[in-house]
Amino acid sequence: NAYDEAFRTARDDPEQFWSEAAQNVTWFEPWSRTMDNGDAIFPKWYAGGKLNVCHNAVDRHVESGRGDQPAIIYDSPVTGTKQTITFRELQEQVSRLAGVLVKHGVWKGDLVVIYMPMVPQAMFTMLACARIGAPHSLIFGGFASKELSVRIDHAKPKMIVTASFGIEPGRRVEYIPLVEKALELSSHSPSKVLIYNRPGMEKVSMHPDLSLDWEEEMSTARPHDCVSLPASHPLYVLYTSGTTGTPKGVVRDTAGYAVMLTWTMANIYGLKPGEVWWAASDLGWVVGHSYICYAPLLHGNTTILYEGKPVGTPDAGAFFRVLSEHGCSSMFTAPTAIRAIRQQDTHSAIGAQYPLTRLKSLFLAGERCDVETLNWAKRSFGVPVLDHWWQTESGSAITSSCIGLGNSLSPPAGQAGKPVPGYNVTVIDDDMQEVTPRTLGNIVVRLPLPPGAALSLWQNQELFKELYFTKFPGFYDTMDAGYVDEEGFLYIMSRSDDVINVAGHRLSAGALEESVLLHPGVVDCAVVGLEDSLKGHVPLALCVLRNDLKKSQGDVVKEMVSLVRETIGPVAAFRKVVIVRGLPKTRSGKIPRSSLANLVNGKPYTISPTIEDPDVYKDIEKMVKQELRPAG
Ligand code: COA
Ligand code: AMP
Repeated sequence: NAYDEAFRTARDDPEQFWSEAAQNVTWFEPWSRTMDNGDAIFPKWYAGGKLNVCHNAVDRHVESGRGDQPAIIYDSPVTGTKQTITFRELQEQVSRLAGVLVKHGVWKGDLVVIYMPMVPQAMFTMLACARIGAPHSLIFGGFASKELSVRIDHAKPKMIVTASFGIEPGRRVEYIPLVEKALELSSHSPSKVLIYNRPGMEKVSMHPDLSLDWEEEMSTARPHDCVSLPASHPLYVLYTSGTTGTPKGVVRDTAGYAVMLTWTMANIYGLKPGEVWWAASDLGWVVGHSYICYAPLLHGNTTILYEGKPVGTPDAGAFFRVLSEHGCSSMFTAPTAIRAIRQQDTHSAIGAQYPLTRLKSLFLAGERCDVETLNWAKRSFGVPVLDHWWQTESGSAITSSCIGLGNSLSPPAGQAGKPVPGYNVTVIDDDMQEVTPRTLGNIVVRLPLPPGAALSLWQNQELFKELYFTKFPGFYDTMDAGYVDEEGFLYIMSRSDDVINVAGHRLSAGALEESVLLHPGVVDCAVVGLEDSLKGHVPLALCVLRNDLKKSQGDVVKEMVSLVRETIGPVAAFRKVVIVRGLPKTRSGKIPRSSLANLVNGKPYTISPTIEDPDVYKDIEKMVKQELRPAG
């Protein structure tokens, strides 16, 4: 079978496998070594090669005759806009914007922060940065000023590109006050802020020394060509959450990413150039970077940029309408979105109005998918629904059904695919022994990682090594726990660190705790993931309050909720607090979050012998029952 052969070759002769895959990318200068594995943690892919991701994603398609093919279909139910942008139009916009960036001093190696809603201009900016070799760092619009400022301080952008506002159901998200506040909080200041003013509203600006207006700049811009960049040149920095509070900016390279993404479109998703593809995520997440923007364009597919929600814009038929109207061949979304649709249109009566004649498959990722949701999706969309597993660090799937390589379209329920060629995945126990099938263990990947995986952490190579490669030498530690079955399918069960997955979004329990502890009435706090029928998990804070507090508990809780909203952002979906008398602590002062997570979800939990006061568990259990499950 083609999959087995590909997996074997990628494992046993990675240089041959990945040099063949690299033929589908256009190089300005050929590479001299496919993989330099001198340091297994930092393999150098395509050393000596020169290329440009924007050239591969845009210009080469115009040159090869795809100029009139739609590159982006922008479908925005929240504004009532639909717009098709061809590869030629995309080239025109992106090259002019690259000219604007260069005119204002942004050059190869200078970082650009992008803080924008789901508008084509956000993609133009990503590609314009790639065109001139300025790594971008796109920050999700659901993060608030404080989080934005921490990232600005760490990334030190030369320029920030933003927009006048975003639209969430029922409200406008004004970006300019958020950026202004973030800049007040941060010690770094960019030299310019380029503002895209969305049509139909009054123009906004910032301090005249900083502010540039998109339309004015573009009207006089001189197009700028693609710059030839070394294979390992950083394409972007994407911040993600982990256990530590230190900002973790995953750095992506140029060549490995371009090769891997191009390869995945054909071999994982089974698509041909020219077909229409839709990843219903946000550009702010890795799925958005890889599968709204880069991969489909690199492979010559049309990509849909959707500014709306699965439900409420205007109804639970939205996904079906978009798939039908634009003739999508394949789609990628998160289980949460499917759960949201199912909750509102259980028998998919609204969805059934839209014929999905071209749809061949639906891929899911971002969080664990329950079997009921999976089966509902199969019935409602009428195509194979395939769960696959990946992380910001990998940039593309680590395990998947590779349908382009002939993998089964009906794998067992609960699985997330087999290892993608290049990812030599295995499950080991804490003593690094491989476990038998169906035994839960640490999911790890034997080094070297394939092209496209994280190059490092921005400004922090040491943390990169320490976090991912120290616990299990010779392996990449995914920090996910799970098992493999007899046939080699992977089942992803939970994170082994303190990450909470909320609606497919990765949040750090520690960061949420820090935010809650900013409230002067809170003396101690533990944040854990509480199971939720829509979002998979939502954060729950167990808090100890000061004895002498004059306010009511209700008021304090309200203040905590707005504090998290203002510091981390609305995306944290933080609303649940239970006040307790004390929290368990180990002798070294750590909070045992995993046992607390089991407790709040009504599961059996074990109390570690290092816990100083085991009795607090009983009290917490009582309070949780009272607050969260009053009837039980
Ligand atoms: N800018 C500003 N605020 C944003 C935002 C953005 N880009 N995205 C989300 N938010 C806000 C929402 O408005 C909401 O605010 P509220 O508390 O005032 O209602 C909050 O952040 C939580 O958002 P969300 O998790 O999206 O919840 P929701 O209740 O609005 O919608 C779903 C529920 C299921 C529709 C939504 O979670 C969803 O589409 N999930 C799919 C997730 C996904 O695609 N993940 C990508 C990983 S592959
Ligand atoms: P992110 O880096 O934000 O994409 O989040 C990555 C994490 O989401 C992984 O480490 C997993 O914990 C979880 N995840 C992603 N895809 C899946 C999946 N298909 N099944 C279960 N968990 C997943």
